[in-house]
Amino acid sequence: MAQTTTTGFARRPERPVLFLAPMAGVTNSVFRRICKARGADVLTTEFVSADGIMHRNERTEHYVDFTPEEHPLGVQLFGGDPEQLARGAQSVVDWKQPDFIDLNFGCPVNKVVCKNGGSALLRDGALLAAIASAVVRAVAPLPVTAKIRTGWDQSSINAVDNARHLEDAGIRRLTVHGRTRAQGYSGEADWDVIAAVAEAVQMPVVGNGDLTSAEVAGQRWQQAPVSGLMIGRAAMTSPWIFQEIAAAFRGEEAPPAPTLSDRWDLIEDHCRQELQRWRKTEKGMHAMRSRLMAYSRGLHSSRELRRRFGAVESLDELAAIRSWHENALHDEQDRDNAIEVPPHLAHL
Ligand SMILES: Cc1cc2nc3c(=O)[nH]c(=O)nc-3n(C[C@H](O)[C@H](O)[C@H](O)COP(=O)(O)O)c2cc1C
Repeated sequence: MAQTTTTGFARRPERPVLFLAPMAGVTNSVFRRICKARGADVLTTEFVSADGIMHRNERTEHYVDFTPEEHPLGVQLFGGDPEQLARGAQSVVDWKQPDFIDLNFGCPVNKVVCKNGGSALLRDGALLAAIASAVVRAVAPLPVTAKIRTGWDQSSINAVDNARHLEDAGIRRLTVHGRTRAQGYSGEADWDVIAAVAEAVQMPVVGNGDLTSAEVAGQRWQQAPVSGLMIGRAAMTSPWIFQEIAAAFRGEEAPPAPTLSDRWDLIEDHCRQELQRWRKTEKGMHAMRSRLMAYSRGLHSSRELRRRFGAVESLDELAAIRSWHENALHDEQDRDNAIEVPPHLAHL
């Protein structure tokens, strides 16, 4: 029988727990709720600097704010100094009461790595462990989880060693993104390394990387004895992926694919919520453009759609683009089947 851990997840549950991957500039409260409504079980904020937390300014609040329906939710922190991270973690726990703190040991971005944060720590097991124990002590009994990559580069794949360090330091759940820091987001995620980590430690392990459909999720679940699956970029194009995966694991028929009007309703609703929540106007629409690009993948006339999205200034203009796009399909019967490429594959 599966053993339930203190973080509430069995090490190998009957079905995987589905996580939305933290993604900077993407997984704010609005988008997290969009994914939760479509089957994501556990949410995490995008990464926030432990130092930034201490300032409690509007920008940091934007990163760590969440609504009651987002539970269970973790705040993800990065930094390179154990004391600073411990203080940041304590501060955000007092301020926002998340359900767990997640430590980012995977970010490949130079700005973060230069300060010894993110994936830089994958090369320094002692510092990695010191950070983890300092944060675990600071927020106990709140669970602390972590997210790592497989290693720094192909010649230093050390996820199993790092996982052991983190488990010894009191980390309660570990996500492994199956790429090295050197790979960035290219190349294929290595699920053999994820499987090796899941076999080596007692804490629940969450597998992450290139989960693009229910079928792929099923294959990876067989390949690696993980407790959960984490989905990132595929959700940006189609947040329905969570319910598609959940239905497949429950042995149910695939839910009907979202229609073109479902997709447009989501696009408009997402933009409306962003503008309302963050009290922004045109500037907010500019910020949404990259999100619109992700939604456009796989839709018909996507080139022209992207051109129009690239210049959109307001909700009224967005409505006009919708009207053009829906009418661009002359055959009424095809309207709701007008997805040219399966959206979960289109970003590849
Ligand atoms: C735009 C973007 C922003 C990201 N930001 C974060 C982040 O803040 N923290 C983090 O741990 N990982 C971050 N990641 C990595 C994702 O969480 C995930 O590990 C990666 O995208 C692989 O999963 P996928 O193949 O399902 O996209 C980011 C990825 C993308 C594409």
